[in-house]
Amino acid sequence: MPWCLELSTDDPERLAWAVVELGALDVELEADHLRALLPDQVGAELVGVALGLSASRIAGMRCSPALPRDDASTWVLRLPERRVGPVVLAAPGREGPNVVTLRDGAAFGTGLHATTRLCLDGMLEIYGSETAFPAMLDVGTGSGVLALVALALGAPSAVGVEIDPAALAEARQNAVDNRAGGRLHLVAGRPEQVTGVFGLVVANLVPGPILAMAATLPQRLAPGGRLLLSGLTPSVSAEVVRVYRHQGLRLWRQEDRSGWVLLVFDASW
Ligand SMILES: C[S@@+](CC[C@H](N)C(=O)[O-])C[C@H]1O[C@@H](n2cnc3c(N)ncnc32)[C@H](O)[C@@H]1O
Repeated sequence: MPWCLELSTDDPERLAWAVVELGALDVELEADHLRALLPDQVGAELVGVALGLSASRIAGMRCSPALPRDDASTWVLRLPERRVGPVVLAAPGREGPNVVTLRDGAAFGTGLHATTRLCLDGMLEIYGSETAFPAMLDVGTGSGVLALVALALGAPSAVGVEIDPAALAEARQNAVDNRAGGRLHLVAGRPEQVTGVFGLVVANLVPGPILAMAATLPQRLAPGGRLLLSGLTPSVSAEVVRVYRHQGLRLWRQEDRSGWVLLVFDASW
């Protein structure tokens, strides 16, 4: 697991170059301070020697475990603000129109992972400007990021469903922070627990559950609705397309990015 180094120094820039050469995943500089995120195969001793530190300074280096985000796939020292069209994803405390705040917690859904990003960009592309954003079902809501952005982009309401109680608690907290209570309904469990139909259904999951949900998700889709699926790899996407087509869905668009696939389907009814 990557780890975090904190060091006081009067030459943070020189040390920053040195840690970058060692393979640092992220670096932050202040006037007299350096923070760096280092891969686990680069040990503290090696870093100290490469930085030219004395033995006593190496012994005094502050090293701590890094915070795993998005199921330990996103490694950053702290979450930067990130843009989704007109919406800004930010830390709690940031105010303003079109700001969605997310706590820096363990639930998947920082907005930085490629699969989340594919879903966010897919939603933007479809409902970006003149098309009215419909009611949305977010299957595997995690932090609630997709549902909260959908609301910020104009969805009248959203339902987020989640099997992990800890993630659901985090989504609830994010809903409160964003004053989304009345418009975001969070459900513990699986999509089978949800009733009604939605103009947009998004499921960013792993391939197994996506294939297993092929009978359920189309039933939640309103006439003319759209279904976005991500969390898929290129090797399984053809099978997912085949199975969902069999349910009456039409493949509208496919996007591959950083080894992940987004599939966008239309309801044929
Ligand atoms: C990859 S994360 C996606 C989180 C967020 N929607 C995003 O796009 O960043 C998948 C989430 O789905 C949840 N999940 C997995 N299988 C599920 C199922 N069958 N029903 C509901 N939630 C599920 C996981 O606990 C996890 O929080």
